[in-house]
Amino acid sequence: MHGQGLPGFRDFYPEETALRNHIFGVWRSVAARYGFVEYDGPPLEALELYTEKSGDEIVAQLYTFEDKGGRQVALRPEMTPSLARMVAARARGMKKPIRWFSIPQLFRYERQQRGRLREHYQLNMDLIGEPGPLADAEIIGASIDVMRGLGLGVGDVRVRISDRRVVSHLLRRAGVPDTALPDALVALDKIDREPHDRLRARLTTSGVSTEAANRTLELGAVRGADALRDTLRGVPDGEETGEGLFACVDALGAMGLGDFVDIDLSIVRGLAYYTGIVFELFDARGTFRAICGGGRYDGLLERLGGVDLPGTGFGMGDVVLGELLRDRDLVPTLAGNIDAFLIAVSADDMPTVLELAHVLREHGRDVEFALKEQAVGKQLKLAAARGARHAVIVGPDERAAEEGLVRNLETGSEHRVTFARMHNGRLEA
Ligand code: HAM
Repeated sequence: MHGQGLPGFRDFYPEETALRNHIFGVWRSVAARYGFVEYDGPPLEALELYTEKSGDEIVAQLYTFEDKGGRQVALRPEMTPSLARMVAARARGMKKPIRWFSIPQLFRYERQQRGRLREHYQLNMDLIGEPGPLADAEIIGASIDVMRGLGLGVGDVRVRISDRRVVSHLLRRAGVPDTALPDALVALDKIDREPHDRLRARLTTSGVSTEAANRTLELGAVRGADALRDTLRGVPDGEETGEGLFACVDALGAMGLGDFVDIDLSIVRGLAYYTGIVFELFDARGTFRAICGGGRYDGLLERLGGVDLPGTGFGMGDVVLGELLRDRDLVPTLAGNIDAFLIAVSADDMPTVLELAHVLREHGRDVEFALKEQAVGKQLKLAAARGARHAVIVGPDERAAEEGLVRNLETGSEHRVTFARMHNGRLEA
């Protein structure tokens, strides 16, 4: 029947919309503080934009169909390919580095599970045209400041950061052949979720020696700057390879955000296009799925649009974030925003109520009144239910005196305000 929407799709009743707007508000204000400008792209794209760029996991989840013109199209499952396409098309005319953000609604046919739906909104912040680690630090810093802006601190969320260049270097030095590197990265990605015997077996089937497979799993356990430094010291060219990652972590420290950040070589990211620093945000208690993920994708614009521009950015979804805010009691209450509820004592008072309501609205006041003749008590009840700050009562006496009786519904106190004053937008005594 029609009582329910599709599984994995949300209805936004006013309360949910208020939470969404709260999250969007913080997203927009942090993006602005970091100098990012907003863009958007189409919700429907050519299928091949994703089959070529996104990686198998997302491709398997696409909402895709043939349109009436015979084109293979897909609802966007992520924003990065559209962003790369748009920037590549106009790259020459734009001042670098480009700082762009967007809040697209995205669609993935996910298996039903907590924190994952079939549509979500995702803040995307991307910095294009700068290959150095300060660009990565800027992006990660912004993701942390969104958390802080929502009231979440170091005890609530952690950034786990790695670098695919470092990990690939260590894997090669451990004896993993180039052909098996993608499989070794997948094993690292799954290290906390699957039995190690199974991961090891899969690696050896991909042509990795037992020794190299063991070493791969050991790398997945490397946590923290000291452990990584020790690991890198042990391999030729190791320390140079780690410079970018350490510079990024140091920059976050200089910003005062270092306490949020942990180096963790098991962070790989599922998407195919990442080439350098990668990171994810998780709740500190490990209860929820990833809040945010991102990283550097230096080859993507070249492959999509023939312009060789490096990029780094993240996507942060509204679903897990909403769950976390509810869990920590950080959801703002849906406050009534009505300034004044105007009350007509009799039908004859209605034209005056309509006139006053309209001038108050012209002055930016949020005003409501009953849309039919009703007892004053009933109207006062509706005013209270709306969370109105004032009730303005207009009866024959008030009209004769040309002043309304204003009741402050928070304190119960009453005062009179002339109609002339209300014509200037005033309600206060
Ligand atoms: P992603 O890791 O696929 O990255 O998604 C980023 C975030 O979006 C996730 O951490 C999660 O919060 C949220 N998310 C993803 N799928 C779902 C879902 N089905 N339901 C609810 N939330 C979801 C990307 O999409 C990259 N394009 C991000 C990026 C931008 N990298 C560079 N720039």
